[in-house]
Amino acid sequence: MNILLLGSGGRENALAWKITQSEKCDKLFIAPGNAGTANVGTNVAIKADDFDAIKEFVLANDIKMVVVGPEDPLVKGVYDYFKNSAELKNIPVIGPSKEGARLEGSKAFAKAFMMRQNIPTAAYKEFTAKEYEEAVEFLKTLKAPYVLKADGLAAGKGVLIIDNLKEAEEELKAMLDGMFGEASSTVVIEEFLSGIECSVFVLTDGENYKILPVAKDYKRIGEGDTGLNTGGMGAVSPVSFADEVFMKKVEERIVIPTVEGLKKEGIEYKGFIFLGLINVENEPMVIEYNVRMGDPETEAVMLRIKSDLVDMFEGVAEGKLNEKTLEIDSRYAVTVMLVSGGYPGDYEKGKEITGLERVTDSILFHAGTALKDGKVVTSGGRVIAVSSYGNSKDEALAKSFENAQKIEFDKKYYRRDIGFDLK
Ligand code: AMP
Ligand code: GLY
Repeated sequence: MNILLLGSGGRENALAWKITQSEKCDKLFIAPGNAGTANVGTNVAIKADDFDAIKEFVLANDIKMVVVGPEDPLVKGVYDYFKNSAELKNIPVIGPSKEGARLEGSKAFAKAFMMRQNIPTAAYKEFTAKEYEEAVEFLKTLKAPYVLKADGLAAGKGVLIIDNLKEAEEELKAMLDGMFGEASSTVVIEEFLSGIECSVFVLTDGENYKILPVAKDYKRIGEGDTGLNTGGMGAVSPVSFADEVFMKKVEERIVIPTVEGLKKEGIEYKGFIFLGLINVENEPMVIEYNVRMGDPETEAVMLRIKSDLVDMFEGVAEGKLNEKTLEIDSRYAVTVMLVSGGYPGDYEKGKEITGLERVTDSILFHAGTALKDGKVVTSGGRVIAVSSYGNSKDEALAKSFENAQKIEFDKKYYRRDIGFDLK
């Protein structure tokens, strides 16, 4: 069948790489894609949230499945757009309904869902600008540091963690006054949880589920987890502390209540659930839900899925995921992200990338690249993910670091300590 994948980052390059390994995939199109996805499929110049253009393309190219990479089209309702169109309703969209996507699109919705379903998460309250005084009173009942979250999507920047009460009050005011536009017109204030984080990915058909390989990502720009937050500087899978005992708790206390809760509440959900978890003294708690795969976790996780991903997606579409088996590669997989100098602040684009052909024993996924006059050039902060297998975490990382050196572009930077906090 012909498949359309929406998105343009490293995650989508990794999904495209895995999808095209399936015998069930004839042609893969990626909208809009990047220079890396063009190596495995055909890029189409359509934005991932331009639903009318997507419709036209799907009908003209005999597309039989749509896979959604990023959250934006999901939160805007691409699933419902297909479902409500007479011509598109039989073409499955891998991703949740608009209502399901609120798990990521609204932190207040996600918190209330977890409370209803008794899923372990930090204590919280939500406030609007009218409730500023109450919000300050609530802040005073908490211990530092203070966690303030914009309710809506804020390009990954909507969470502030502040050490001092006075400053927290000021930032809260600024948020409610529109620091993140409409996204922070409601703010969730929550208890600070202390522990180490990991990302658990679940694929569900709304009834059955499969737990995909667990990963840990590294969000800060600087080594030792210092400096500003980025979209993600690397990832490791598996995660040493997410052992069988921990994962059993995750499944029983979080995965099952999430899938059953969605069903009970009549929320259609056929896609990925990304659980951002924190390990608080060996007890998993939910920091956040996302309704898509993680980036750069996907660039490691896809390497560890042995099963045919398109076959799994068919299981999702047909509500028969229980009939599919998920086979996982026992090896480690890691990814190291090469970024543009200056990122996540200002950086330059259009720098020629060389040495790609010298890479051996790693798999490259493009994040922010473009083709210009036949050359691959940088076009984003995160540029290329260098993913590798290994029999140990260190063996896999050694390969990625070695290949990271062979790729050249002006002001290239990467973290040399990915995985430093794991056994
Ligand atoms: P989020 O956008 O919800 O993933 O939050 C961004 C980051 O803030 C998370 O990855 C955590 O590192 C941190 N964070 C969010 N909520 C909490 C919390 N309640 N306690 C401690 N850290 C948190
Ligand atoms: N790696 C975290 C995310 O994709 O949100």
